[in-house]
Amino acid sequence: MKIKITKNGPYIVTGSIPLYSETIACDEKGNSVGFKEKEKIDSNGTYTLCRCGKSKNKPFCDGSHLKFDFDGTEVSSKKIYEESLTTFETNKIRLDDAIELCDHSSFCQNNEGIRKLIENGDSESIKIAKEQAANCPSGRLLIWDKEKKESTEKEYEKEIVILYDQGKDCEGPIWVKGKIPIEGEDGEFYENRNRITLCRCGKSKHKPFCDGKHWMSPEMENKFRKKWNLKDLE
Ligand code: FES
Repeated sequence: MKIKITKNGPYIVTGSIPLYSETIACDEKGNSVGFKEKEKIDSNGTYTLCRCGKSKNKPFCDGSHLKFDFDGTEVSSKKIYEESLTTFETNKIRLDDAIELCDHSSFCQNNEGIRKLIENGDSESIKIAKEQAANCPSGRLLIWDKEKKESTEKEYEKEIVILYDQGKDCEGPIWVKGKIPIEGEDGEFYENRNRITLCRCGKSKHKPFCDGKHWMSPEMENKFRKKWNLKDLE
């Protein structure tokens, strides 16, 4: 079982890895709150997934990348998690945060934001912060409960999920679960992660990983910048 990244082309998935579609569900204010409508996508043995964003047969590659000179150059370090990891902690909680992996699925922006919730320190705030970290498809966020000596990381089966983001009303990244090996074009493997998100719009600046560019039209960027009170979403 592995995902092979091809030069300026699709992801080749081998080993009959189950493929699904699923929606990041939002509340009435457009905040990401969970997942819904998970459905199996027919796929057998080996299949190819589009990473240029132009296929007319998504999520599969239909060769469209050849028609417009798709530049799929991998720019991410093979150790992106390890190298971008920072920590934020209180006496009860430690948040591991590898910001370079952020896919803008936005769970951590709700209820004042995950860091403020951790700072608040009350049991309800910590409960919400843990849910936010656990929901993050990219694996950017992980909470360690120092008192209970446990983390928010879930055990995932090996599967690939094509995400749709209801709150932003757009296609999302490819969610890779369960430590599926990801092999770069150069034959070297990326850090083996329990959860991570791959770009499938072709616009990420951290290829092969998603960096949230799939939804960032200028209008959407302004709307969410105001909503999250952010100066810069880059
Ligand atoms: S990568 Fe082949 S159509 Fe997108």
